[in-house]
Amino acid sequence: MSVIGLLTAGGDCPGLNAVIRGVVRRAIEVHDAEVVGILDGWEGFMAGDVRPLGRDDVRGILQQGGTILGTSRMDPYVHGNGYESVRSTIDRTGIDTVIVTGGDGTLKTALQLQAEGMAVVGVPKTIDNDIAGTDVTFGFDTAVQVATEAIDRITTTAEAHDRLMVVEVMGRTKGWIALYSGLAAGADAILVPEIPYDLAEVAETVRSRARRGRSFSIVVVAEGVPPPPGVVPDQRKDAFGFTRVGGVAYSIAPVLEELTGFESRVTVLGYVQRGGTPTAFDRVLATRLGVAAADLAVEGNSGVMVGIRGTKIVPVPLEEACAEVKGIPSDLYDVSRTFFG
Ligand code: F6P
Repeated sequence: MSVIGLLTAGGDCPGLNAVIRGVVRRAIEVHDAEVVGILDGWEGFMAGDVRPLGRDDVRGILQQGGTILGTSRMDPYVHGNGYESVRSTIDRTGIDTVIVTGGDGTLKTALQLQAEGMAVVGVPKTIDNDIAGTDVTFGFDTAVQVATEAIDRITTTAEAHDRLMVVEVMGRTKGWIALYSGLAAGADAILVPEIPYDLAEVAETVRSRARRGRSFSIVVVAEGVPPPPGVVPDQRKDAFGFTRVGGVAYSIAPVLEELTGFESRVTVLGYVQRGGTPTAFDRVLATRLGVAAADLAVEGNSGVMVGIRGTKIVPVPLEEACAEVKGIPSDLYDVSRTFFG
């Protein structure tokens, strides 16, 4: 009987529980395999915190945000000594293959453990949509929906008060959430890390709107853009060693207010983009990825990630997924420019 280990690591995102349910139901009911839940990501793996997962454990979790397994930003190569830190859990539980659900940092760690001999099947997860080798990641659709609804709301109050609203969205070092939510909500300018911005140009857009009687504007900012010239970037690191991002909108808004004469206000959406129930699209994608990962694991595959290409779920070499952090396509940004102003 196959024994599958299952963990969720890194930042949580809507859809993780749909993956867990997909893996458990498929493994048990189709492959008669056993699933061992590893708690709190790599931290629980190193500490040996595990529990068996059965059908009853995944009842009613499809709609739930977060992850019933918990997660952490710990890493066996930062907070331990690699494979040696998780070997005793593997030996004690008899796990054959570990299904690792995570973002680019987590998948890179999984690739290192694979190189040390641990059988890994990866499931890409992040609201940032920045993982290579797959067309889209679950969690992204939900984050974009939440951000779009928020920007729609902010637009009504901006118009009522003739204000310039700067809305900051997540996305770490890439601009997927900003681009999609900005396009969906009809933003007047969208700032993304992939494309250098010029606040004088944005200010001219705001002024030209005013000349046409549109005395309010919406500027969507990806949290990963650099601050305006003369402002020192945040140097803090998270547990994984990533530079912490968030709050750049507070240095951009005063500059735009100065340049346009419009009263400005800032909204940093933050964790509302990460929490709560996943959209139907994310539930279906996450479920399909969980089922495919269980199939691959039971069939003895490893060193691969499940991804979506077009409408097909396909295995993708983990190296390919870890080769780059995927940025936005410039042609889509050009489409959004059509609607600036
Ligand atoms: O990667 C997902 C994400 O939400 C990013 O968009 C954001 O920059 C980061 O995680 C926040 O990380 P943390 O939850 O550790 O503060």
